[in-house]
Amino acid sequence: MPKRTRNGKLLAWVEKVSNLCKPERVHWCDGSQEEYDRLCQGMVDSGTFIRLNPEKRPNSFLCRSDPGDVARVEDSTYICSTRKEDAGPTNNWVAPAEIRAKLDGLFDGCMRGRTMYVVPFSMGPLGSSISHLGVQISDSPYVAANMRIMTRMGQAVLDELGDSDFVPCLHSVGAPLDEGQEDVPWPCNAKHKYIVHFPETNEIISFGSGYGGNALLGKKCFALRIASAMGRKQGWLAEHMLILGVEDPKGEKTYVAAAFPSACGKTNFAMLVPPESFEGWKIHTIGDDIAWIKPRPDGTLRAINPEAGFFGVAPGTSLKSNPNALKTLYGNVIFTNVALTDDGDVWWEGLTDEAPAHLIDWQGKDWTPGCGRVAAHANSRFTAPASQCPSIDPAWEDPAGVPISAFIFGGRLSKTFPLVFQARDWTAGVFWAAVMGSEATAAAVGQAAIRRDPFAMLPFCGYNMADYWNHWLTVENRTRKKPGFFRVNWFRKDENGKFVWPGFGDNMRVLKWIVERVRGRAPEAVESSFGFSPRYEHLDWSGLDFPKEKFEKIMNIDRAEALAEARDQADWFDRFGSRLPQELEQERLGLIKALEAAPPVWKIS
Ligand code: OXD
Ligand code: MN
Repeated sequence: MPKRTRNGKLLAWVEKVSNLCKPERVHWCDGSQEEYDRLCQGMVDSGTFIRLNPEKRPNSFLCRSDPGDVARVEDSTYICSTRKEDAGPTNNWVAPAEIRAKLDGLFDGCMRGRTMYVVPFSMGPLGSSISHLGVQISDSPYVAANMRIMTRMGQAVLDELGDSDFVPCLHSVGAPLDEGQEDVPWPCNAKHKYIVHFPETNEIISFGSGYGGNALLGKKCFALRIASAMGRKQGWLAEHMLILGVEDPKGEKTYVAAAFPSACGKTNFAMLVPPESFEGWKIHTIGDDIAWIKPRPDGTLRAINPEAGFFGVAPGTSLKSNPNALKTLYGNVIFTNVALTDDGDVWWEGLTDEAPAHLIDWQGKDWTPGCGRVAAHANSRFTAPASQCPSIDPAWEDPAGVPISAFIFGGRLSKTFPLVFQARDWTAGVFWAAVMGSEATAAAVGQAAIRRDPFAMLPFCGYNMADYWNHWLTVENRTRKKPGFFRVNWFRKDENGKFVWPGFGDNMRVLKWIVERVRGRAPEAVESSFGFSPRYEHLDWSGLDFPKEKFEKIMNIDRAEALAEARDQADWFDRFGSRLPQELEQERLGLIKALEAAPPVWKIS
């Protein structure tokens, strides 16, 4: 019996899984640097990792996945509650007994010839009352190494766990090795992939994929899907949100949490560098992807980043778009599916204006500019320790979390939605977050339609989305110091199809207004039927030539467009039937009424 823990549930579970999966050996991860170095060297020796040039990128590795295993598999992701209605219309569902029988068959002998790693991990700082513990079993050394960066992992977690409960996370790449069979650099299962969650018993089982959110089970599976269900039962929130702190020249700090769907620049926003003219203003990063938020007895909502690293999308990351991310990547990084340069470093589209003359692409093939293929996969990633980020907040590991003063929601929308507005109150804020989304072109009719992604949680909510909205409404009662709710849209286009707003560091201008609003120091805002918006002179334009006419263009609310949006929201809400909180439908009807009563166009100038 291993000495590392006396936790009865854990020991019994490890034994049961080991008997089922029949690995060659079992390794309990202690989380040490030596262990990490051994894991990485083992993968270099086996051909899974390429060690990068230590002079350019110390202690860093490149890994190329199987071309069929490059992203999250939403079609194979299931929420297995007892009743289908509890998973809701936006999740895939299978009856728990049925999926367990299927998985038992797939896991039988699935680790033959491999090492089974037992990876104890904490989501959130050890010792925090906002954190929760899990143990992942995996037959992938890539997963074990990544989990050491993305979570607090190892013996310290077992020490903290003691006899208490944990979330069991079972993972296999689903590629057993027969006697004498040679391994491949990226084992996975081409035929069967299942990412399964049991929100009623807090369990995760993942089969067939070695990639990202399918395999690093602390992230989307635990910290969002299972944790959202835990939060509902226990009265807190697990959100797909970045957290940042805004510090003004006097040193006063205000923390905000923001939810954006994928591909809206969340990591860039979390590490924003203010324009040079904003002397003394600083942005501090707490997290770039997930926030756990708990109401505290002092009436605040306190948030932690449950992760310890960034699993960020590489393409588009550059010194211009995100200098702090690039500095974070100086070393100690695992890169997956980016391109390899001739001098042993990495490259991806957008890193430099000009591509190198020759690369080895993400599939290991020779690549030259103009060859017609991308060098790095569009979903290629870096795994890097958050502690290396130059903008990391000194309080990022504070077990008490940071108080959240504003929630910001955004999508990628070329029209209808203004640069920024504040929802009238908590209920209106939940409404605007419930209908948020990004534009998707409906190929059939050639019209832009919104792909709704409520709270950016569409693929990540572990129970019925309508119940989730209701849960958000109930959290208001437990919050005396209520944050403001804001919607932003950096992506409005002009009549030539060009983005009007410069974005990136200039988003600071909007953030400053938001912070001043929630501090109660912003000048009177303009009221429209969406909420409260700034006038032109309320934003700080220092160092930017952005004429009033342009501002009007991205602040105006066109009545016909807004009415079409409000009517379209009915189809969305209809999907949730009687579970839809009536407060949200009331908000929608109130919006239509306000729009019908108002003049055709507002000019907020
Ligand atoms: C992510 C995602 O990988 O949201 O963070 O898809
Ligand atoms: Mn994400």
